Amino acid sequence: MKKIMIAGMGGQLGFELARTSADASLLVAPKENELDITDRESVNAFVSELRPAVIINCAAYTQVDKAESESEKAFAVNRDGPAYLAQAAKACNALLVHISTDFVFAGTGGNPLRTDDAAAPLSVYGKSKLAGEQEIARVGGDALIIRTAWLYSSFGNNFVKTMLRLMNERDSLGIVADQVGTPTWANSLARVIWQLIDLDARGLYHWTDAGVASWYDFAVAIYEEGRAAGLLSRDTEIKPIKTSDYPLPAARPAFSVLDKSSVYALTGGKPEHWRTNLRKMLSELR
Ligand SMILES: NC(=O)c1ccc[n+]([C@@H]2O[C@H](COP(=O)([O-])OP(=O)(O)OC[C@H]3O[C@@H](n4cnc5c(N)ncnc54)[C@H](OP(=O)(O)O)[C@@H]3O)[C@@H](O)[C@H]2O)c1
Repeated sequence: MKKIMIAGMGGQLGFELARTSADASLLVAPKENELDITDRESVNAFVSELRPAVIINCAAYTQVDKAESESEKAFAVNRDGPAYLAQAAKACNALLVHISTDFVFAGTGGNPLRTDDAAAPLSVYGKSKLAGEQEIARVGGDALIIRTAWLYSSFGNNFVKTMLRLMNERDSLGIVADQVGTPTWANSLARVIWQLIDLDARGLYHWTDAGVASWYDFAVAIYEEGRAAGLLSRDTEIKPIKTSDYPLPAARPAFSVLDKSSVYALTGGKPEHWRTNLRKMLSELR
């Protein structure tokens, strides 16, 4: 029996992995507060007792703006946690699957970012996630790292759910139009993670849904699809604004569309367009 341990099962991606797994009986997830990945001893004890074939790390410090003032905590979870998991995985010959982010890039260009493009994170969150990737490489066991972007799910907190709430409350919203990336349904990422595990993939990959959008485009689509799905009952004007009009503590890449060709080459499949997946997620919420 090939046991699969999921750290951070209580987050959006953990939830989607659980419901898309081919055999849920193989999944083992530490219960809430049972495993703090920043505690090396707990990680070692948990992994050495369980002896999983695969560890999927969905645990992360994901509060991008708060990380600017909680750098130590962000690095503990996003750099040290993956290092401890990688060491524990290596000790029992398990594969570590780790999730990283488009925020490892500065995003000053205009071409889809490849896995061999230089990382240059602008924020504490991005720096801590890049440090996690580097720690996993330094430990040197079996590892699969997948960078993704702009995740949302019907479970957990995310941009889609925040927008729906605000659109039900406000007459108008200003949304940043000069940051471009790809909204990605955590469900489609979860499916590709299972595929890559089945294909014995190792190394660094990029994965998002298909297409590109600014946060403004994404918000307009949430409004239109939310109205069509009956989730929004009032008119809201959505206005494009500049990043400089909405200052936040963390700097973000202006262009972080990811090149996914190495996954296409391996799986032979391509992702659905982000708007198609948004529609599916909203119909679930309804
Ligand atoms: N969300 C995005 O837009 C996005 C974009 C690109 C990449 N990613 C990456 O994708 C992965 C999954 O993200 P997500 O959106 O599913 O995140 P999420 O919903 O914020 O879930 C993260 C989970 O990690 C847990 N966690 C935090 N610190 C922990 C610790 N010390 N020990 C054990 N568990 C801990 C959290 O538990 P608590 O809630 O109890 O703290 C939560 O259940 C992360 O690696 C993230 O960096 C996310």
